[in-house]
Amino acid sequence: MLAAELHNSSSSSLEYMRPIWPRLAAIPLNTVVTPLSWELIEPREGKFDFTLVDGLIQDARRNNLRLVFLWLASWKNGMSSYAPVWVKQDTDRFPRVIEKDGNPVEILSTLGKATMEADARAFAAVMHHIREVDGEAHTVLMMQVENEVGVLGDSRDRSPGANQAFEGQAPRELVNYLQQHRDDLIPEFRQRWESAGGKTSGTWTEVFGAGPETDKIFMAWNYARYVQHVAAAGKAEYPIPMYVNAWLSGPGASPGQYPSGGPLPEVTDVWKAAGTAIDIYAPDVYAPNFAEWCDRYNRGGNPMFIPETRGGSAGQANVFYAIGQRNTIGFSPFGIDSWQDKDNDLGKSYEVLMQVAPIILQHEGSSEMTGFLLDKDHPAVAVEMNGYRLAVSLDDIFGMGAKTGFGLIIATEPDEFLGVGSGFRVSFSPASANLPHAGIGYVEEGSFSGGTWIPGRRLNGDENDQGKFWRFSPQRINTEKVVVYRYK
Ligand code: DGJ
Repeated sequence: MLAAELHNSSSSSLEYMRPIWPRLAAIPLNTVVTPLSWELIEPREGKFDFTLVDGLIQDARRNNLRLVFLWLASWKNGMSSYAPVWVKQDTDRFPRVIEKDGNPVEILSTLGKATMEADARAFAAVMHHIREVDGEAHTVLMMQVENEVGVLGDSRDRSPGANQAFEGQAPRELVNYLQQHRDDLIPEFRQRWESAGGKTSGTWTEVFGAGPETDKIFMAWNYARYVQHVAAAGKAEYPIPMYVNAWLSGPGASPGQYPSGGPLPEVTDVWKAAGTAIDIYAPDVYAPNFAEWCDRYNRGGNPMFIPETRGGSAGQANVFYAIGQRNTIGFSPFGIDSWQDKDNDLGKSYEVLMQVAPIILQHEGSSEMTGFLLDKDHPAVAVEMNGYRLAVSLDDIFGMGAKTGFGLIIATEPDEFLGVGSGFRVSFSPASANLPHAGIGYVEEGSFSGGTWIPGRRLNGDENDQGKFWRFSPQRINTEKVVVYRYK
């Protein structure tokens, strides 16, 4: 999915969206990530209105685009502003989080069973309807269940129901999961458990220690139980992939400053212990250390999907790392419908990646593909592929050095590599000793049309630094093939 996400309110009006669709298709995107809210789907209890679902699907199809729907229901950015009014106002039936100061906030409590069932019923109705109208065409590829959940303003819910649960025993299912998956737990989570004694029974505080991090684990369990239940109800109607997204923690921030209990990497094991309906734990990466967050999420068998991130020149580069190094199934900068990306930086990457997609898909998930981001703090990477050592560094010729570089490289044939990107150069040496030297046979730039390579210029002389480097000029995003050879 070479995608982007709409602003939160855009898709609440088909009329508002009408002129936007062709602009999105022209970027070019192949997928649009778009909200679908509980308040508009079920404005009165039990009365469903699918006008928006139908209209969005039809308009996406008219523009040859796919969709990912965001089910904005019990929570969106921690808060519950997208719940229908009949839910918001009935605080007895649908209890709220109470925080340290004793006041309820507009955050539905995960401990409200009736809330969970109401949300699950609505989501099941949505999925039933999507299957009816889209079960064959598959315009809708995936569902995001809720949005950036977690308690804001406190490290945990302190409503009576939550306090009672917190004082009780850590749930059997969770503790069993810890025991059964001990060796595969995310290391930082395992360390927390083991440093509190690695106990297999006891209260939350006994098993995980006292403090806000334990509050966060407690909230993760309760959000996970709720969201897995909602997702499972939807999947029972129409089982397409479902994911949750995380508001990431900033440096030095404590739970409650970011949503406490959301699917952060250090608690995804808790989420997994609570159910299996969620297929992907996905980070909303606005932070500059994009690669690090990808690395932290792409563990424990979790597929990579970036539902929200920065576009423009940052997105233009980051998508190469996400695909080349982390095999992402989708990349989706936020707020696409109001962008002033005059140079269409993101679109330039997407256009090339769409051309190369058939080759990427053949090599995805294997050691035959690599991706990288280079800058002054990370000026070089070394990789071994196809029997060669590749030294990848910022492009530099005649004293003109690139400040940033990005790209991906695929080993396409013995002694042949395909590269896409900008601002980097590569030198080769053999990975085995029998023929100790390697050289560049030739470099060809080109493009793909329907998966077929259309050669352009032969790049030699300054363009490959007199045969020393496979170069990708910082001035454009290039697609190039190199054939290398070995000698004594
Ligand atoms: C993250 C949220 O998930 C989005 O819905 C939106 O509010 C953005 N933040 C705004 O940056």
